Amino acid sequence: MRALVPRARRHGETLALHASGRLAGVLLAAPPGVTRFPPPPLASQLRTLLGQGLRVARRWQEVFQTLDAERPFEEHAYLATLGVEPACQGRGVGSALLARWLARVDAEGAPAYLETDRPENLPFYTRAGFAVTREIPVLGVPVWLLWRTQAARAGRRSAF
Ligand SMILES: CC(C)(COP(=O)(O)OP(=O)(O)OC[C@H]1O[C@@H](n2cnc3c(N)ncnc32)[C@H](O)[C@@H]1OP(=O)(O)O)[C@@H](O)C(=O)NCCC(=O)NCCS
Repeated sequence: MRALVPRARRHGETLALHASGRLAGVLLAAPPGVTRFPPPPLASQLRTLLGQGLRVARRWQEVFQTLDAERPFEEHAYLATLGVEPACQGRGVGSALLARWLARVDAEGAPAYLETDRPENLPFYTRAGFAVTREIPVLGVPVWLLWRTQAARAGRRSAF
């Protein structure tokens, strides 16, 4: 996260929602055309390496390489991460951040893509118009790949 956040702020989109003056949730995304954020500066890579150790750093590299290889060829907006403070979960913060980001994505007429390794999050994303395209193992852990087409967006709009 320490390496991802500065790069997302510089090269992508960061949405934050505050509640009672405190940070409640954050969404990091890459706009259409940004296939991936550039690698972190060497100093940041070294800090991660020293902090986590070579074995863990290698495993992270394998995770990112596997996920990168699965990214759709078609240009898309990419949800890098979405997180809500545990005390604020289940109160609409994540839905609000996702809806705000998707409104921007829809305005650009782009499809959207994300991955999750949490099956409990699948209804949260499918409600927003995402559909699971594949389930793949990453280091032995199942990961779901989700895609949101413009057709899904149009369908959702007409349903209302
Ligand atoms: C997943 C997450 C972003 C959803 O944000 P949220 O603000 O808690 O969700 P909302 O209140 O807007 O919507 C609630 C829905 O989120 C889903 N959800 C997933 N994890 C949840 C949790 N820990 N608490 C509450 N809802 C959760 C459920 O589908 C829930 O729907 P339901 O009320 O019908 O059961 C948030 O719970 C979170 O940060 N979880 C931990 C980190 C994570 O999994 N990030 C996503 C990585 S892909």
